[in-house]
Amino acid sequence: MTKKIVINGGKKLSGEVSISGAKNSAVALIPATIMADSTVILEDVPDISDVHSLIEIIREMGAVVTFEDGTLTVDPANVFAKKMPTGKIQSLRASYYFMGALLGKFGEAVVGLPGGCHLGPRPIDLHIKGFEALGAQVETINGAVHLESKNERLLATRIFMDTVSVGATINVILAAVRAQGVTVIENAAREPEIIDVATLLNNMGAKIRGVGTNVIRIQGVDELHGCRHSVIPDRIEAGTYISIAAAVGENITIKNVITDHIDSFISKLDEMGVDITIGEDWVRINKTDFTQLEPSKIKTFAYPGFATDLQQPITPLLLMANGTSEIIDTIYPGRINHIPELVRMGAKASVEGDVILVQGPSKLTGAEVAASDLRAGACLVIAGLMAEGETKITNIEYILRGYSDIINTLNSLGADVRLIEE
Ligand code: EPZ
Repeated sequence: MTKKIVINGGKKLSGEVSISGAKNSAVALIPATIMADSTVILEDVPDISDVHSLIEIIREMGAVVTFEDGTLTVDPANVFAKKMPTGKIQSLRASYYFMGALLGKFGEAVVGLPGGCHLGPRPIDLHIKGFEALGAQVETINGAVHLESKNERLLATRIFMDTVSVGATINVILAAVRAQGVTVIENAAREPEIIDVATLLNNMGAKIRGVGTNVIRIQGVDELHGCRHSVIPDRIEAGTYISIAAAVGENITIKNVITDHIDSFISKLDEMGVDITIGEDWVRINKTDFTQLEPSKIKTFAYPGFATDLQQPITPLLLMANGTSEIIDTIYPGRINHIPELVRMGAKASVEGDVILVQGPSKLTGAEVAASDLRAGACLVIAGLMAEGETKITNIEYILRGYSDIINTLNSLGADVRLIEE
């Protein structure tokens, strides 16, 4: 039996959506909680499968965890450096944050790596370069990374990141917060989720400065204590619902948005002629006049550039524009597996080298399609909402990893979406 999302498309949606806490913060904040010596409370944690996987993992390490109404309470007092070469640790890529957290707290870790991903190669060489620079011995044996500090404590150092990497920046911060001395990370990533993790760690007693710029300084401390922290709103979920509102909405308000976090995305929609109103912590999209919708040229970059995670969700809207749009994903050139699925629905789209070409206006009709990754799944949901007839989406576990309660949310806006097992 496989679960599928079935969408009866062509409906116009209206109403309000409230954005959840950021997945890409939560999957780093939860591993970070085990570094404290006393209870950490995280609020506004999204109810997604990645969070439940991470809760299982820290419970296996000895943490006492409760998760109710978005509040996650972690008592890490009895946490130990449990070796996790395989098992649940492989169910999500972000489990690599346990390398930094365990190495930072215990000076040792064994963490299994997840399988491949549909975005193309996703190496962790920069994570390992950072750990080795801090004085850890790192070896990959049978798909698991074994890390051990060569000294009593990790030793602070200066690390230059060859590539701007969200994961490597966060992982090095986690390892360095208890190192001896001041660690400097140069060419660091600047994503809001990194600031969120540093805010939690500083509330625990860490001394991290410069996060959000490309030079981060971490003065090692001896211990980290419990605290309370609220997860920032999910900018990618916000962008996804804004794309839905522009594509099939008549008047939709998206609440709990930090609009600064999606400036580059909003400016693209503006250029295209989407009727978007920016509020204090909300965005309202009025009905799009498709006769006036312009195509766009999009190139993804590290924050604050156009997010790679939003190139797939915006693509269905580009199919409604009057002309050919171009997308170049400089972060993951291989992030194109949604294109053949859209073509099955009647989209005029293709990949020429590193350029995704999207011709509008394309009329979409429902089909059976497969999600290849989380944001590809979101893209297919939007296409299904737009298409005439019924769309069936398989591999929906990807979608449920990143969008809490998406089916009820869409139906509350007037969509006709259901989950079936076949
Ligand atoms: C984070 O992945 C996000 N995931 C991704 O979101 C997002 O697409 C990506 O950042 C880019 O913004 C989480 O935060 C859990 P990177 P991450 O390290 O940290 C190369 C989603 O849909 N690189 O910033 O793994 C890498 O190949 C997911 O929510 C190395 O070469 O991404 C890529 O080209 C998908 N060596 C570039 O850097 C390394 O050691 C940026 O990757 C690490 C990365």
